[in-house]
Amino acid sequence: MQTTRLGNTGLVVSRLCLGMMTYGTPKWRPWVLDEDASRPLVKHAVEQGINFFDTADMYSAGESEALTGKFLREFCRREEIVVATKLFHPVSMAFSSGIAPKANGHRPPPNTSGLSRKRIFHAVDASLKRLGLDYIDLYQIHRWDPATPIEETMEALHDVVKAGKARYIGASSMWAWQFAKAQQVARANRWTPFVSMQNHYNLAYREEEREMIPLCKDQGVALIPWSPLARGFLAGNRRADDAKAGATSRANTDEIALKLYYRASDFATVERVTAMAAAKGVSNATLAYAWLLHKGITAPIFGASKLPQIDQAVAAVELKLSADEVTQLEAGYEPHPVLGHS
Ligand SMILES: NC(=O)c1ccc[n+]([C@@H]2O[C@H](COP(=O)([O-])OP(=O)(O)OC[C@H]3O[C@@H](n4cnc5c(N)ncnc54)[C@H](OP(=O)(O)O)[C@@H]3O)[C@@H](O)[C@H]2O)c1
Repeated sequence: MQTTRLGNTGLVVSRLCLGMMTYGTPKWRPWVLDEDASRPLVKHAVEQGINFFDTADMYSAGESEALTGKFLREFCRREEIVVATKLFHPVSMAFSSGIAPKANGHRPPPNTSGLSRKRIFHAVDASLKRLGLDYIDLYQIHRWDPATPIEETMEALHDVVKAGKARYIGASSMWAWQFAKAQQVARANRWTPFVSMQNHYNLAYREEEREMIPLCKDQGVALIPWSPLARGFLAGNRRADDAKAGATSRANTDEIALKLYYRASDFATVERVTAMAAAKGVSNATLAYAWLLHKGITAPIFGASKLPQIDQAVAAVELKLSADEVTQLEAGYEPHPVLGHS
């Protein structure tokens, strides 16, 4: 497994990060795997040299963090691995998606979401407890909190780092101006800046190429995009004529994918990926991850529900694409509305 530095830091991460959202409890989302089904997958990923794992407090209402900590304590040495988690959304089975504090049309109890000082301090301790770890390597804000002054958030995150509860901090999907503002506030006050951006970026959604990706490259901020396979869509497992006739449980029940993709131009992208993957004798997934790795990405955060999917991700790290192939894969992309900030 190739490794790289996480942006400007000295932290060494594998070129692939295993997304732990797939592991937890199917009570949260029907396609999520329980402990017994997840264990061999995480073990296999570790055996392939993956040392970077991303979860969030909200995934399976905390069960993903609990399994992440449990598996990594079983399979790894703590000093070698990089454990990333996130806060912002309510940690509740009742919460499905969308910008907090509105969860399913109902307001969650006060202070159970967002990025206030109180919430951050409570959330980091709750995550550490569920993970069963002494510290988090990369503590990320899952979304921007418009209700809390960014000064309050950045100072509290700095204090979390200084208290030894997290080694680095990162951010996830937001507008580039918000990210730049947060970094400026941190620097002006000599607080800890973000070292990574976990954004929505894949062959079917490339709007991040406009502002966020150039900003991060300029500033040496690591790029660790989520849903590099567009939630499985780029594998060719969805149907344009019938959203419930996909090839897998997730393909049929992942309502977020339905909101993010399924445009005619997205299906055309899948066709291009399928044709080139067949010509090169690799899977769609391998090709889609390899494209990202050719775009200056630090490590895509990929999901895997079956063992061969991990091998197909690992194969991407060694797959070479010519500049022409990269251009061919991108040709025909049609701009999307901004998706994935909410
Ligand atoms: N920051 C954020 O807002 C945010 C948002 C979303 C996700 N994330 C992070 O990103 C991680 C990855 O997200 P994701 O699961 O949506 O990523 P993804 O890599 O785009 O999709 C993963 C899904 O694609 C399918 N798949 C994977 N490999 C395949 C292969 N070789 N062939 C065919 N199908 C394949 C599997 O679904 P099937 O079961 O259908 O086969 C798998 O669950 C999450 O675990 C989480 O850590 C973060």
